[in-house]
Amino acid sequence: MDPAEIIARLDDLGRQFEARLEALDQEQAIRACQAAYLGGKGEVTALRKLIKQVEPAARKTVGQAFNQVKERITHATGVALQRLKESEERAYLEQPVDLTLPGRQPRGIGRLHPISIVMHDIVDIFVSMGFDVASGPEIETDYYNFAALNFPADHPARDMQDTLFIKEGKTLLRTHTSPVQIRTLLKRPLPVQIVAPGAVYRRDDDPTHSPMFFQIEGLLVDEGVTFAHLRGTLETFIHKVFGKDVTLRFRPSFFPFTEPSAEVDIQCISCKGSGCRLCSHTGWLEILGSGMVDPNVLEEVGIDSERYTGFAFGLGVDRVAMLRYEGIGTIKLFYENDPRFLGCFRS
Ligand code: DAH
Repeated sequence: MDPAEIIARLDDLGRQFEARLEALDQEQAIRACQAAYLGGKGEVTALRKLIKQVEPAARKTVGQAFNQVKERITHATGVALQRLKESEERAYLEQPVDLTLPGRQPRGIGRLHPISIVMHDIVDIFVSMGFDVASGPEIETDYYNFAALNFPADHPARDMQDTLFIKEGKTLLRTHTSPVQIRTLLKRPLPVQIVAPGAVYRRDDDPTHSPMFFQIEGLLVDEGVTFAHLRGTLETFIHKVFGKDVTLRFRPSFFPFTEPSAEVDIQCISCKGSGCRLCSHTGWLEILGSGMVDPNVLEEVGIDSERYTGFAFGLGVDRVAMLRYEGIGTIKLFYENDPRFLGCFRS
C-alpha cells in the first residue's frame, strides 16, 4: 500500500470532517459526527487497519499522519462544542426579561417552629421583667424530678404524672420543668429569679396530649416575696400575651412543691366568658399552675425558709400556642412537623 495515498486520504478525511462539522449546531450531532471518524467503526479507524500493508520504513510517517488527523478532528470538535455553548449562552442572555415579574420565593429555607416562636416570645416577656434563663437535663433523676420537690416515695401525688422511666425509681425523662428549680437553687446564690423553658415527657398520647411537650418554669426566691408578687407577675405576663382586657382568676389547687397552690385561668379569649366550645362552656381557660414555694423545698436545698420565701409557676407552651393560633384543633399538628403546616407560621 502506498503510504502517500494513505496520507492523502487521511488529509481528505480531515477536510471532509471539518466541512460536515460546519453544518452542525447540536451537541449530540457533533459528537456523533466525531464518532463517525474516530469511533470504533469510524472512517479513520478503518483506514488505520491498512497500516499493516505499508512497508515498515514508511510506517512511522504514516502513523504520525494518523495522529495528526486524530488531533485535527478532536480539536475541531472541541472548537465546535465551545462555539455552540457560547451561542447558547448568548441566546439565553438575549431573551427579553420582564423586570416587573415578582421575584422567586426561596424554598426550603429554615424557619422557627411555631412552638419555638411562642416559647421565645414568652421567655422574652419574662426577661423584660428581670428573669434570667436557666436550664436542666431532660434525663433526670428521681431526686430532682420528685423527691426534692416534696413528692415523698409512694406518695399518691406521683400518680399525677405518668412517668416514662429509664430505670424504674432512678432515672427518668423529666415529667415537668420543675426540677430546674432545685438545680438552680443549688447552683446560684439568692436572690434567684429564673425561667426555664424546655421539653418534658409523659406517657400520655391522645388528641389533646403529646408524649413530648414544652413547658416554661418560673421561680423567684428572695426575702419578702408574697403571693401578691406572684399575682402581679402573672397578670403582667398574661396581659402582654393575650391583651390588657383579659381577666384572670386564681383557683385553689394542689402541687407538692407549692403551698398554697393555685391554678390560673384566663377568661376565654374566644367567647370572652360567655361559654363556647374552646372553653368547654365554662367561660375560662386553664393556663398554668403556680404557688408559693413549699418551705420543705427551700429547706431541702439548704435555704432558711423563715427568712426566704418564693413563688413558682409552670405553663404549657403548647397551650399558649393553641390559643395564640386559634383553630389548630389538635396539639399533635405541632409535633408531626408537616412542612405544609409549619410553613404557615412566621416569627
Ligand atoms: N410542674 C407542674 C406540672 O407539670 C406545673 C407547676 C405547677 C409548676 C405549679 C410550678 C408550680 O412551678 O408552682 O404539672
